[in-house]
Parts: sequence; structure tokens; C-alpha cells
Amino acid sequence: MCGIVGYVGPQSALDVVMAGLKRLEYRGYDSAGVAVLADGQLAAAKKAGKLVNLEKELAERPLPAGWTGIGHTRWATHGAPTDANAHPHLDNAGRVAVVHNGIIENFAELRGELMERGHELTSETDTEVVAHLLAEEFSATADLAEAMRLVCRRLKGAFTLVAMHADEPDVVVGARRNSPLVVGIGDGEAFLASDVAAFIAHTRSALELGQDQVVELRRDGVTVTGFDGRPAEARAFTVDWDAAAAEKGGYASFMLKEIAEQPKAVFDTLLGRIDAEGNLTLDEVRISASELREMDKVVIVACGTAFHAGLIAKYAIEHFTRIPCEVELASEFRYRDPILDAQTLVIAISQSGETMDTLMALRHAREQGSKVLAICNTNGSTIPRESDAVLYTHAGPEVAVASTKAFLTQLVACYLVALYLGQVRGTKWGDEVRAVVRDLAQIGDAVERVLGTMEPVRQLARSLADRNTVLFLGRHVGYPVALEGALKLKELAYMHAEGFAAGELKHGPIALIEEGLPVVVVVPSPRGRSLLHDKIVSNIQEIRARGARTIVIAEEGDEAVVPYADHLVRIPPTPTLLQPLVATVPLQVFACELATVRGNAVDQPRNLAKSVTVE
Ligand code: G6P
Repeated sequence: MCGIVGYVGPQSALDVVMAGLKRLEYRGYDSAGVAVLADGQLAAAKKAGKLVNLEKELAERPLPAGWTGIGHTRWATHGAPTDANAHPHLDNAGRVAVVHNGIIENFAELRGELMERGHELTSETDTEVVAHLLAEEFSATADLAEAMRLVCRRLKGAFTLVAMHADEPDVVVGARRNSPLVVGIGDGEAFLASDVAAFIAHTRSALELGQDQVVELRRDGVTVTGFDGRPAEARAFTVDWDAAAAEKGGYASFMLKEIAEQPKAVFDTLLGRIDAEGNLTLDEVRISASELREMDKVVIVACGTAFHAGLIAKYAIEHFTRIPCEVELASEFRYRDPILDAQTLVIAISQSGETMDTLMALRHAREQGSKVLAICNTNGSTIPRESDAVLYTHAGPEVAVASTKAFLTQLVACYLVALYLGQVRGTKWGDEVRAVVRDLAQIGDAVERVLGTMEPVRQLARSLADRNTVLFLGRHVGYPVALEGALKLKELAYMHAEGFAAGELKHGPIALIEEGLPVVVVVPSPRGRSLLHDKIVSNIQEIRARGARTIVIAEEGDEAVVPYADHLVRIPPTPTLLQPLVATVPLQVFACELATVRGNAVDQPRNLAKSVTVE
């Protein structure tokens, strides 16, 4: 949610910042802007719409060459996505420029005070007040880092701020509270960004800033302090993927690339999980085995696609551990006064590790004395840092806004957590754990097979391009898969799509069925609980009898569904609990193709952002 870049060094600041923004555009794409410092003057350009509009503007009206610069790509919160509301924001004298991610909750009050003191504010944003406040504090201190600390102490809310001042031409200052900001350390140059992807082409050496810290970037090094001015520590880390991983690599979209990367992502997430004694290990577990044995409830919190991974995890956790498991949308969680105590294990699932709703949910849980285990794809992000235990998914950078490979790896991670709990609590024996891990190890190949048979799914999607509604049905773990299929279609194709538990259909939604309505049905394995399978075959007959055009996703060899399938999509046999790992893939391909044929921006669907750092 909003991408931020800052640079100080010997290269063209504009080039570095623009390349960084391209990498961060997934975070927001309502508008974009840059500012550079050249010959003691600030020069800025900003444009509503995607980054390409800013590129055009810069081609028509180039900025002077400079070596210190900042940039921003926006997901609007305060004020419409117009040129005027785009960042950077400048003070009235045009000496300070600032970019911002987050929400400044007391901006109206600060704005009133500034106007009383004669400042003219020209945008509708909360950010602009910071430029004016920084200008005031800088005129008193002549030190941008100190000015930033003084301003931050007056701000309420969540924010990452990056600023520069014409009177300190070789300095960029950043500040962080509850929104992401990482520092890149190069040779005679330094970078600031919301995500390492922005500077990975220049350096893999990074620092993760803590809460309420201010960083001052100069060519020869960085200085980190708290908002109170005391020296502070920032953790150094090396980024373990390279620039190529953040490129499209010949695919038409990041989404297609990320769908294709799923077999490897699943494999990588399983890598090294069994130790020399044959036990399952997680990455960072600061919860003792005895504490885990005491847990009497698991609560999963997550948003969007990660929430669907949580819904599936519930089946595995209850099955493997016999502990009751609740799954809740993170945005609802803390507002209902949930029952939490030291015997509750909270699992927070998040690809980005920055989703504010999930972060607030986990903070609430920890305040109540619960332990939190994070399942996350982003090393060094806030959610794992604030958790008691972490299992990293190794999906690699996921750039397309709609989550695909991260989802599959979240599922793998959830199964591993369920097994780990089973192992620690003694509800699963070592050989049982290893048998499931062996099944999981086969899944990458199964996903690869599914990917190799997707042309009929793409054709089918193209034939449905002018439809308005598609329904998705599933039972057991197939129900969250149906929800995920519907979410993908909404996000990408902007179609009305809903997922239902197949058994619930008869209690209302069946009224939606009309002649020719496409309904996707995820069929459980006939080798598993036969009752489940038989029930869904009846459900398919019920909707078909009412005119639905059935698109049936069923295991190879499942002949019972054949008479009722207008379109049959085959998936390789898997154990029932693991079926979502393969059954989701055709739904991703289906949504991606429908979006493409409808002319939508597959990687950057309208109104969305990948990392949502506001509540
Ligand atoms: C946004 C994205 C979704 C994602 C959700 C949770 O809404 O558009 O694709 O599933 O955030 O993100 P997280 O990073 O916490 O997994």
C-alpha cells in the first residue's frame, strides 16, 4: 500500500527512483511522483494514474539531473487520485519534499494549526501537513533528521515518511511507525524503500528499521535513531533472492509467471523441514514445546487469500491435533472481544507480513497473553518480527496483486504447522508426520501436471468472457477452494462470483441458478470419504437439473461425475486434505484468462493493492 523509494549516491537519482517505483507499483498505482535535488533546488513531477503517466510527463518535461531523490506510487486513502494529491508534497517555499505511506490520524487538527500560522495547503491529503511541519522544524534546527523526529512525535497513526530538504542536498531522511521501510546499503550509496525489491538491482545488503525509528541516509553511511533522538539498532540482513526473481522472465504478466512458479514454490517451502532425527522443524520458534502442549485452542487470523488458506488449515489442524481451531477475518477479530488467553495459539497468515488488519489482530492477541505464530513470505517484515514463532513460506517475491504461489505455500506451511503441533503434542507419530510430508513432497509434481493441461480451461474461460456471474461450489476443504476461486474472479475479471458450501446451496443460493449459468464445482476425491463425494455428485445433479452449465473439477479416474459435467477439468489424485493444493490451480488459470480476455490489467486490478497497510 503505497510504494516509497529514496536514494543518495553517485547515480542519477531519477533513474534509481523510477526503476525502484516500477518494482513497487504493485503496492499502489493510483498516482506516482518523484522529486530530485539538483543545484540546491528541488524539482518534482507527479501524475495521476499508473507510473507510465509519470514516465510520459518526465519525457515531455524532464527534471534536471540530481543525485538525491525520492519517489512514491500511491494507493489513495485521503483525497482522490489526482495530480494534486499525488506525492511528493512540498512546503510553500518548495524547499522540502516528502512522500508517505499510511494514515496520519490527527492530520485535520495539524492542518488547522498550520493554516492559522499562515501556511497554504493545496491538496486533500494528510501527507501535506508533514511537508509544512518539516519546513517549520527545519528552519529552527537546520537538521532534517532532527526535524523529522520532532514532527513524528506529533503524529498519530501509522506512517512511513521519506523526505529531503534543498538545504541538505546529500541527505534523505526516513521515519517508520507501523508501516514498512527498509534500508539498502551500497558502496558509496544508500537506498530507502518499502520493500527490498526496489533496490535489489543495486545491493542485497539491507537493514530493517524498527518501530518509531528515524534513519538518515548519506553516501557514506546511515544513522538510525529513535523518535526520541537516542541511537537505535537496526537489524542487518542479506536479501536471499536476486533481481531476476523480481522480473517477468518472459511471461506476459507476473501472475502467469507466479502461477508457473508454484511447483518450485511448494518444493522450496518444504525444503529442509525434517532434521537429522526425522523431526519436523519450523524457522523461528520462541514458544516452548511445553507451552504448545498446554494450548487448548488455535485461532487463525488473516485477510483475503491468506484467510482462505486459514480456512483450509482448520481442517488439517483439527484433524492432526484434535485442538479446536477458529478462523477469523483479521479485520473483524479484535472488535468482537475474542476470548484469548495464554492457552490460545494464534496463527497469523500473511504473504507480505505488513497487512495492517492482521498486524493489529496479532497485537491484540499478544496483549491478551496469547502466543502468535506467523506464516509469512517476507523476511524482515513486521508481522513475523512481532510474533513468537515464524514459519516462512519460500514462494519468492510475489508481485501480481492477486495471490497465487503465496497461497499454495501458505497451505503447505499450514499443513506443516498442523503436523508440528501434532508432533509436539504427541497426537501424530514421527512416521505419520513423515508420511504426510512425503505426500506434500509429491504435490509439486502434481501441480506441474495440472499446469500442463490447462489449455481447455483457458478456452473455456474465453468462451465465458461476456458472462456476468460465475458460482463456485465445494465441500470440506473444497469449500474454501470455491471461495478462493470466486475471489480470484472478482479481483481479476471484475465479475460477480460467489463461492458456496455445496450443501448450503439448497438453503438459498440455489435460487440463483438459471439456464446456462456457469457453476464451477470442486469435487472431493472418491477415494476419500465416499459420503462426501456422493453428496457433491448429488449437488451437481441438482444444479444441472435447474439449467446450470457445470464446470467440474474432479480427480483423474472419478467416473461418477462424467454424466453431469458440461466441462470436466481433471486433477491428479491427492489425499483429501491436500487436494486444495492442486484444485486451486485451474481456478487461478481460469480467472487469469478471463481477466486477460476482458482486457483487464492482470497484475494490477483496479482499486486493489498488494500490501494493505491501512485498516
Ligand atoms: C490484499 C491483497 C490480497 C491479499 C490480502 C492479504 O487485499 O489484494 O491478494 O490476499 O491483501 O495480504 P497478505 O500480504 O496479508 O497475505
